[in-house]
Amino acid sequence: MRSSTNRLSLKLLLLAIAPALLVLAVAADCPPATEPTPTPPTNTTTLPLPEPRFDSDVSVEQALLQRRSVRDYTDAPLTLDEISQLLWAAQGITEPTRGFRTSPSAGATYPLETYLVAGTVEAVSAGVYRYDPAENKLMEVRDGDIRAELASAALGQRFIEEAAISIVLSAVYERTTNRYGDRGIRYVHMEAGHAAQNLYLQAVALDLGMVVVGAFHDDQVGNILRLPGEERPLYIIPVGRTD
Ligand SMILES: Cc1cc2nc3c(=O)[nH]c(=O)nc-3n(C[C@H](O)[C@H](O)[C@H](O)COP(=O)(O)O)c2cc1C
Repeated sequence: MRSSTNRLSLKLLLLAIAPALLVLAVAADCPPATEPTPTPPTNTTTLPLPEPRFDSDVSVEQALLQRRSVRDYTDAPLTLDEISQLLWAAQGITEPTRGFRTSPSAGATYPLETYLVAGTVEAVSAGVYRYDPAENKLMEVRDGDIRAELASAALGQRFIEEAAISIVLSAVYERTTNRYGDRGIRYVHMEAGHAAQNLYLQAVALDLGMVVVGAFHDDQVGNILRLPGEERPLYIIPVGRTD
């Protein structure tokens, strides 16, 4: 008698909590409300970015037609407006409620981190900065001009030293593999491609030249950029003004 009463109570309890379990299961498959960027150390120097523009005189068809890898740059500096526009094109947030971005992401897991290696940018000290898409700001990682070091780590590709800036895309694979297992690895690489193509098209619209660089020593680039242990560099993308 007592055991059948216990079974009944258990059934009633399961019925009562079933809706809550369902909500939890669905929520687990939803994108996070904010992007999973690491917490910066306190006293980090931050640099607010100007709002990006959402229109231009260059059509997407013209940008596709003109897109080319460019490795020759002038010495002219880039502006903060241009930097903001490029970073937004790569990983900017376009739907703040759920944190969706300019580039698609498998399961909205957002494994990519975006760094600015600033050489010559108006009103910005040379250094390495991490882009915070949610706040549209830069957080300083280290100061000083590291372009020559970065070029050496990229098998001596000198145009990295000559470009006003490089944008470096890195990845925290676990954000995606935790959900998709080993298949998540390919998803991360696909996402770097999406972000890089956005940059190529945005560079055309801004009349800037750039090239994606995949040939470099991961460990050296990780050390130069002070990447956290779980982050791997995927692309170095030098950008500069052309004649
Ligand atoms: C995954 C990948 C890695 C690349 N790595 C380099 C590189 O290390 N150095 C370089 O100068 N170009 C690199 N490129 C650029 C290619 O050389 C370039 O896209 C190709 O020559 C075609 O020229 P286009 O981009 O102007 O159409 C890379 C391109 C891709 C897609």
